[in-house]
Amino acid sequence: MKVLVIGSGGREHAIVWKLAQSPRINSLFCAPGNAGTAQTAKNVPIEADDVASLLEFAKKEKIDFTVVGPEAPLVKGIVDLFESNGLRIFGPSKSAAQLEGSKVFMKAMLVKSGLPTAEHKVFTDATSAIAHLEAAKFPLVIKADGLAAGKGVLVTADKAEAKTFVSDSLSGKAFGESGQRIIIEQFLDGEEASYIVASDGTNYVSLASAQDHKRVFDGDAGPNTGGMGAYSPAPVVTPELDEKIKKRVIEPLLKTMRDGGAPFVGFLYAGIMVVKGEPYVLEFNVRLGDPEAQPILFRYQGDLLDLLEACSKRDVSKIKLEWKKDSAVCIVLASGGYPGKFDKGFPIDGLGQSIPNTMVFHAGTKLSDGVVVTSGGRVLGVTASAPTIKEAVRLAYQCADGIHFKDVHYRRDIARRAILL
Ligand code: AMP
Ligand code: GLY
Repeated sequence: MKVLVIGSGGREHAIVWKLAQSPRINSLFCAPGNAGTAQTAKNVPIEADDVASLLEFAKKEKIDFTVVGPEAPLVKGIVDLFESNGLRIFGPSKSAAQLEGSKVFMKAMLVKSGLPTAEHKVFTDATSAIAHLEAAKFPLVIKADGLAAGKGVLVTADKAEAKTFVSDSLSGKAFGESGQRIIIEQFLDGEEASYIVASDGTNYVSLASAQDHKRVFDGDAGPNTGGMGAYSPAPVVTPELDEKIKKRVIEPLLKTMRDGGAPFVGFLYAGIMVVKGEPYVLEFNVRLGDPEAQPILFRYQGDLLDLLEACSKRDVSKIKLEWKKDSAVCIVLASGGYPGKFDKGFPIDGLGQSIPNTMVFHAGTKLSDGVVVTSGGRVLGVTASAPTIKEAVRLAYQCADGIHFKDVHYRRDIARRAILL
């Protein structure tokens, strides 16, 4: 089969790496890909959200199956476009992808499904949003409605900072149209978990649990990022909590989507805050998490193509997922300055190490005259597995410490909470 993977991050390198193990695939493409995907797939120079050019390429190359990594092309309706052209593709339709495309839509679905979530209010004008802030209890959370490349959420205890964020967002200055509607919500104090299922619209299978580290610095300090590291399984997701998430979050949401004429086919990612043993939904994403995909796929023992095809053929109930017993950890090596401004184009040394049970997934990298150089904020996801999480962490840091590029920075405390449990 000829398979096309869309995207260029660590998640897409992990998807390409896993799909390359499928005996049914003889030709693998990645658009646009990175220096890591180029090792196992043929990179195609088309941006992930250029859906018209992707369609043209898939038709010309007679691609049998397309896998979409990031949210932007899904929210743009790439699945509807490919399917209406008779092409098979894995991911949610444009209307189902609104779960991530609009936080206001997502909250409406949560309320409709009776799911536990933070109390919230929607605002479109700055005067009433600021009046609300004057009377509100801090800390609180402010969220831009639309896609904002992971930067549209502010968690703060500082009223002045909250007011600036509200004004900059609603005026369009900070996030363009995405920020012209905002949600102000109650701060939930607990432990986060990423709970991801693969759904065929009706049935679903749960992937292994994972936990991400959103803040840029050790001890969860500094601004939010796309994720600075992750590990799987996440001990916070006990068998009891797993059951609660299935029954109180995943199943009611899938039913609401089905009843509303937008059945959810694809990876559904619930960002959960566990407060006193109870799951609250922070958000839904319509794709695999990044970096969660790296440790999760590192532990997955089946054929990823079988799972994705079963979802798109509306037949996932026949799939039984199997996971390595080992724990896996991913440490993100980022460019100096990320998630703010950073420079690119620095050569990366130390990619040739051979440490057993480790894999360096590429994210923001590219080949420049045969040399791998930095080309994004999150550059690499160093991933390792071992029988204990402690040993996996040790291996991952051994590998990370052997990699160098100018101004590299990474957290030193990935998975510490899981080790202490
Ligand atoms: P979101 O994109 O909605 O998941 O928000 C990004 C991150 O902000 C989450 O992963 C949490 O770390 C944090 N966050 C979002 N909503 C809340 C909340 N209501 N209470 C506490 N933290 C939150
Ligand atoms: N790591 C969080 C996300 O993928 O949204």
